Amino acid sequence: MEQNELKQLVGNEAVKYIEDGMIVGLGSGSTIRYMVDALGKRVAEEGLHITAVATSKFTANQAANLGIEVKNLDDVDRIDLTIDGADEISDDFQGIKGGGAAHLWEKIVAINSDKNMWIVDESKLVHQLGVFPLPLEVIPFGSTHVLEKLDKLGYAPTFRFDENKQHVMTDESNYIIDLHLQKIEDPFALAQILDSIVGVVEHGLFLNICDKVIVGTQNGPKVLEK
Ligand code: A5P
Repeated sequence: MEQNELKQLVGNEAVKYIEDGMIVGLGSGSTIRYMVDALGKRVAEEGLHITAVATSKFTANQAANLGIEVKNLDDVDRIDLTIDGADEISDDFQGIKGGGAAHLWEKIVAINSDKNMWIVDESKLVHQLGVFPLPLEVIPFGSTHVLEKLDKLGYAPTFRFDENKQHVMTDESNYIIDLHLQKIEDPFALAQILDSIVGVVEHGLFLNICDKVIVGTQNGPKVLEK
């Protein structure tokens, strides 16, 4: 199976965990696109009744177009289960997210969810985080100074640009800076430093958030529990 087939495999598997009446957080990214398609199918074919909260405008549109009821996070009192993708997951279930520039809303939805499941193809599993560039969502105002500060700290930061050399903009109209760290020795210590930098809205380290991972392998979906 190639990578997209593995993504589809875990997307199909993940929706089996969604039960009638649930409030479900929908992540973002290419793996989640398959999962939302599979969920739309269940809603259409089984009449499954769920309420969804989306972590990006893209996912909200996709879900609504498939007939899934989508509400704002502020209009629900809790989320039973959020299913999201990830860019890297370490052995101890810590993760990097934000490759699709959606980690701010993803983290807000995740911390308001009773359970968080990540679905990935097996290339995302690592022993140590950091090869995947760590995304930061930053306020545009003064962002070159934030970049300089991160550079002085030795984090090898770069702004993320699109194919037209324009800043990639998040759903909150902020910029993305990627940190090219190669390895992160202590994700908790790094998170604390990044949390303290004015102008950084949120970083892509998702620590102690995920409870369950479904990995797409050549032998089928494999469930890892924390
Ligand atoms: C979106 O910003 C990300 O956090 C995604 O969840 C993550 O990048 C995984 O995306 P793919 O499923 O496209 O690899």
